[in-house]
Amino acid sequence: MKKSSVVFALCVLAIVPMVLLTVSIRENKAEQQAMNAVPPIKPGETRSSEWGKYYPRQYDTYMQTKKSDEITDVLKHDPALIVMWAGYPFSKDYNKPRGHYYALEDNINTLRTGAPVDNKTGPLPTACWTCKSPDVPRLIKRDGEMEFFTGKWAKYGDEVVNTIGCGDCHDSTTMKLTLTRDYLKRGLDAEGSLKTADITHQDMRSLVCAQCHAEYYFKKTEWEDKGEKKTAMVVTYPWNKGMSAENMEEYYDSYGFSDWTHPLSKTPMLKAQHPDYETFVTGVHSRNGLSCADCHMPYVQEGGVKFTSHKVGSPLDNIANTCLNCHQGTEKEFRATVERKLARKEELAKMATDILAKAHLEAAKAWSLGATEEEMKPVLQDIRHGQWRWDYAVAGHGAFFHAPEETLRVLAGAINKGQDARVKLRVVLAKHNAADFVAPDFSTKEKAQALVGMDFAKLVEEKKTFLNTLKQEWFKKSEAKGLYDPASRKDMVLKTSYN
Ligand code: HEC
Ligand code: HEC
Ligand code: HEC
Ligand code: HEC
Repeated sequence: MKKSSVVFALCVLAIVPMVLLTVSIRENKAEQQAMNAVPPIKPGETRSSEWGKYYPRQYDTYMQTKKSDEITDVLKHDPALIVMWAGYPFSKDYNKPRGHYYALEDNINTLRTGAPVDNKTGPLPTACWTCKSPDVPRLIKRDGEMEFFTGKWAKYGDEVVNTIGCGDCHDSTTMKLTLTRDYLKRGLDAEGSLKTADITHQDMRSLVCAQCHAEYYFKKTEWEDKGEKKTAMVVTYPWNKGMSAENMEEYYDSYGFSDWTHPLSKTPMLKAQHPDYETFVTGVHSRNGLSCADCHMPYVQEGGVKFTSHKVGSPLDNIANTCLNCHQGTEKEFRATVERKLARKEELAKMATDILAKAHLEAAKAWSLGATEEEMKPVLQDIRHGQWRWDYAVAGHGAFFHAPEETLRVLAGAINKGQDARVKLRVVLAKHNAADFVAPDFSTKEKAQALVGMDFAKLVEEKKTFLNTLKQEWFKKSEAKGLYDPASRKDMVLKTSYN
């Protein structure tokens, strides 16, 4: 080949990729612009695959929350919890969280939601759907908030059928982040340090999560529907006095609220529900202005397009795009740091559960020997406050990392209150000639279930009947109504702690 031909060939070889690159940049620009434009998605659309037609990258990453599918049975890991939650649904079934893809499925399958036989049977209220689906804001809009929070869980079985999706965090007519749950706005205004009127865009990148990842209770609310008296169980954030464990405890104590009465110790109990947002704001990352999305939904670059990863999961799956955006160090070091924080929390949490479970059993013994209300009252107050603190510290699964100091401080308080109860119990037991009473063994799931008198096999059998009958009808009916998005459950496999 002549020299000039070689030069020509080399030039062509160099130009072709450049032309291709220019075309692709132009295409990427077009895609980036399309991503910022507002597509014709129906207002209040609850089917995420409909949104996915316009935003394939966000949709694809969102669907990858499916990969976090492991069931970890927490009750098996720590059977003391069965004793601590006796008489409350959590004692039946409690797993670690999985991906958002499974949120609705897990709510339906857990033994906690029981085995309704029709749309009127319980045991739980409609409020249990609240943080599982974009169908919830749709129903609140359609039926009104009071009607939504009235009745049993099964009432909306054929209406709440799409798992957490685009409509939970975005307004389809503007694509802006939006708050779809009014109880959060009421909570913020009652607490007062961040009024809803002052919310910034960076705040929104955490607040969309705080719609679900926060402590709540069901506030019994009487209301009138065209002359008929009804009672709603309204999801409410107990933030009026502040967000710390002590602030919320004071709020609950101020009007004698309890979630249930413990059948063994007879304690009026409080149940904490994942105060992720409340603990997060006490930590160093929040104080430096970070939002949940900064770590759980990092920006990623794909073929020249920069977008938000919607694979909400462990930031440790993507250390390069999360921690290493701000920190120096290796992936290995970051993993080790997080593990060390977890191990410290586990150590104190284990002490607390052992102490609190024993306190319940020792209190039961004291009652059986004829202890009086007066003798037991201070004991029960300590158990209530101790277990509340433990639950507040551990129910938010990420708190050990988000706010390690606060988590360990609250756990120390739980251990202290639990031991206070047990010191007082020793005196009561001694008075009733049982100074050397030793609480029975609760070291396995089966032993703990026997101690609290749970017929586990029956619970499972009833649940399985429900799964094979009413659950199936719900999806068929909702599909006929055009509400249900089959893509949202594609390849769903039944995974539970009991099957
Ligand atoms: C509509 C309610 C809702 C919203 C909004 C929500 N979550 Fe969740 N989240 C849940 C529920 C429910 C689960 C548990 C799902 C399960 O275990 O089936 C969960 C699970 C998780 C998990 C565990 C995932 C895993 O793979 O283990 C993380 C992390 C998480 N959420 C973070 C966030 C962040 C960050 C935001 C905001 C960007 C957010 N969530 C918004 C309800 C919500
Ligand atoms: C748990 C809340 C949550 C859910 C569910 C959610 N998003 Fe987002 N989305 C966010 C956050 C946070 C951002 C970052 C917004 C920002 O900082 O401007 C975002 C950003 C976006 C953007 C802007 C471009 C980008 O990538 O930053 C688009 C488009 C988008 N989401 C589409 C979707 C679609 C489509 C779905 C459903 C498949 C969805 N989102 C589900 C929270 C959510
Ligand atoms: C500085 C980074 C960072 C920020 C900001 C952050 N998280 Fe996390 N989060 C983590 C890490 C790290 C873990 C532990 C992950 C693990 O153990 O795999 C975690 C764990 C979690 C978990 C438990 C997941 C599980 O499967 O057990 C939830 C839920 C969660 N975070 C929600 C949130 C919410 C809600 C916010 C905002 C209020 C938030 N996170 C802010 C880094 C962060
Ligand atoms: C957007 C920036 C940013 C990201 C992302 C980020 N951090 Fe940080 N981190 C900070 C800042 C700022 C501080 C406070 C530094 C100080 O006060 O000296 C901090 C402090 C820390 C500390 C010391 C305080 C403590 O809690 O012990 C650790 C450990 C840490 N980060 C781990 C992580 C890990 C793990 C991740 C990823 C999951 C992460 N960070 C993600 C900005 C970030």
